[in-house]
Amino acid sequence: MSKILLTGATGYVGGTVLAQLLQSPEPSLKGLTIDVLVRSEAQVQILKDAYGTRVHPIQWEGLEDTAFIADTASQYDIIINTGCAFIAPGAKAFVDGLARRVSAGPAPWLLHISGCTNLSDRPLTQTAQPREWDDESDSGTIFDFMQELEEREPYPQRTTELGVLAAAAVSGVQAVSLSTPCIFGQGKGLFNQQGLVIPYILRYIIHHGYGFKLNDTANFDWVHVVDLADLYVLLVRTILERPDRGVEFIPSGKKGIMFPAVGRALMTEINQRVLDAVFDAGVLPREGTPQEKEIREVSLKEIADELTVGREDVAERGWGGHKAMKGTLAPKLLGWEPKFLEGAWKQEFVDELVALKEGRRGVTMASCIGAS
Ligand SMILES: NC(=O)c1ccc[n+]([C@@H]2O[C@H](COP(=O)([O-])OP(=O)(O)OC[C@H]3O[C@@H](n4cnc5c(N)ncnc54)[C@H](OP(=O)(O)O)[C@@H]3O)[C@@H](O)[C@H]2O)c1
Repeated sequence: MSKILLTGATGYVGGTVLAQLLQSPEPSLKGLTIDVLVRSEAQVQILKDAYGTRVHPIQWEGLEDTAFIADTASQYDIIINTGCAFIAPGAKAFVDGLARRVSAGPAPWLLHISGCTNLSDRPLTQTAQPREWDDESDSGTIFDFMQELEEREPYPQRTTELGVLAAAAVSGVQAVSLSTPCIFGQGKGLFNQQGLVIPYILRYIIHHGYGFKLNDTANFDWVHVVDLADLYVLLVRTILERPDRGVEFIPSGKKGIMFPAVGRALMTEINQRVLDAVFDAGVLPREGTPQEKEIREVSLKEIADELTVGREDVAERGWGGHKAMKGTLAPKLLGWEPKFLEGAWKQEFVDELVALKEGRRGVTMASCIGAS
């Protein structure tokens, strides 16, 4: 039986991937035990209590412990690396460990997570380069383009993605990265269940009384967290169920980038939807805040200080950048059919406000960009 290891079980995405894998009725997944790496004894206990023998939690120091990671990875057939994607040496150590299994077979796989900001331009401080990338027709050139960006200006999430895919290409390990856009919806894991973009804009707007923009053209594609998790499930099933274990079928190495993108919005539209939700609910206006819905142009420094722990490069790519992605491969190759479409996207703004009001929301940007 294939051995599967997952990271990020306490996170928004990883927790949801774990939940979706465990509740799948598919014969290839039903009896599987999944090993998960977590950083505290309390997390081990919570996972054991909830999932019993289906999950085997292993305590580790984290993505900085590369020797442990490589030794551990060498014991597995499939590794789903859905934890923090900003720590390059740790992510590459998974490939190094899997590489020890290549000659003995079967082909080991790494399913990585990354983000659309790796492709983003920096239109405020550099030349704007708006364009749409297609994961099928631009396959191969996406890696090269990111490599060029990286040579000019390293960015940890991109360093990690490129490092994983390049190391896989030379070692014979199979690796594919899901370069994710804005992820929304209630997560299904046992720990963090919230995304970043909408909760952060909601928090900003409630605090200030108005929306923000860095320009008028910044965009985000979007995907519901459950649809994203289902894509990881489909990848695992493809590897387990196909006689070729997905080799030469799922793109890998320097061509191993897929875009799980379902819809697209301007940043100004996202702000407008949040404003509509909070004005409709009577949360705004408050005394001293604008009485009409307003989206103000603000400085990059202010947004970086408030939303991305002072990182102006991260803020510019995320809140100001162009990063349109067309996801052709997942539906075409794997039959991925996202269920959460425009209606779910619109409803999210109302639901997120309810979650905030009910005290179900904290702050997670620091852990998401590897700053804690
Ligand atoms: N959420 C989004 O909207 C979004 C959008 C685009 C891309 N992404 C990508 O997806 C990744 C995961 O996002 P998420 O929303 O699931 O993040 P999250 O909810 O903050 O979860 C992060 C996970 O990584 C773990 N982690 C953090 N630092 C670690 C370290 N040094 N060593 C080991 N584990 C560590 C956390 O474990 P602990 O519980 O022990 O801290 C947690 O399990 C992000 O890093 C980002 O690259 C996310």
